[in-house]
Amino acid sequence: MAVARLMVIAAGVNKDMARIIAGIGTSHIPAIGAAVDNGKTGEAYWQPLMNGIKPAREWMKNTRPDVCIIVYNDHASAFSLESISTFSIGVGDVFPPADEGYGPRKVPVVEGHSELAWHIAESLILDEFDMTMVNDMPVDHGLTVPLTIMYDQPDAWPCKVIPLSVNVVQYPQPTGNRCYMLGKAIRRAVESFGDDLTVAVFGTGGMSHQLQGERAGVINRDYDLKWLDKLVNDPESITGINHTEYMRETGSEGIELIMWLIMRGAMAANINEVYRFDHVPVSNTHYGLTILENRL
Ligand code: DHB
Ligand code: FE
Repeated sequence: MAVARLMVIAAGVNKDMARIIAGIGTSHIPAIGAAVDNGKTGEAYWQPLMNGIKPAREWMKNTRPDVCIIVYNDHASAFSLESISTFSIGVGDVFPPADEGYGPRKVPVVEGHSELAWHIAESLILDEFDMTMVNDMPVDHGLTVPLTIMYDQPDAWPCKVIPLSVNVVQYPQPTGNRCYMLGKAIRRAVESFGDDLTVAVFGTGGMSHQLQGERAGVINRDYDLKWLDKLVNDPESITGINHTEYMRETGSEGIELIMWLIMRGAMAANINEVYRFDHVPVSNTHYGLTILENRL
């Protein structure tokens, strides 16, 4: 046993500590949740998407992270323009699905990991990222749709979830660089938690889409895929992209992509992209999915 532990430590993994094993980038398009909840995934429209996410679900079944830190944005469900927090972390024990106007989704309640979440909050704040701590909040499609994409329809979500929400709705949003640096700080936080836990970090939202205004319907697959290549292989080359470029190239809601930079920041420099899928259109959006594993 002691020898086995020494060998894992020698391989760069300390089994006594929490560790980030994977990063997942995925769009969080609400229509995907509605299609699954209402039994419509057999329809021709949904087939390419459902076939594309099948390997991701297989990977998730084999990987089974204990905890998922899901970086998402609240779409005025838990929060509103009365109070806008740039970065928040859910430190509570449970987060019910939000009522977004047509009743809460009939999906399991999200169970938090309060102890790890408070540890991360403390570590981030001492690392000079001033998080808002949230004990009670409902979670909307930004968080529950990625769970559906990766886990389908279980009776209970197979992982604990730490919601980490980012303001991408109201200008001024944080910069891509700040998001990337926050990801690095999340990695330091997780790796200083003295419990044997495997953790996956989700970055959600995107890819290009604009739901409103004169340019409603913007989709820019070429730009998205080049951006994604850089996210995987050379993330520092895209941390300087400003809000105007995101708006111009990926539409007003494409800026959700900055949340994928938090996920990437939480990963090692050396990673393997073990799966990628994209499809146009899903609703009014370019759907994108990537799965990254830390290389030992
Ligand atoms: C859509 C996409 C989103 O990211 C969102 O938050 C709401 C709607 C869409 O494509 O319909
Ligand atoms: Fe969104």
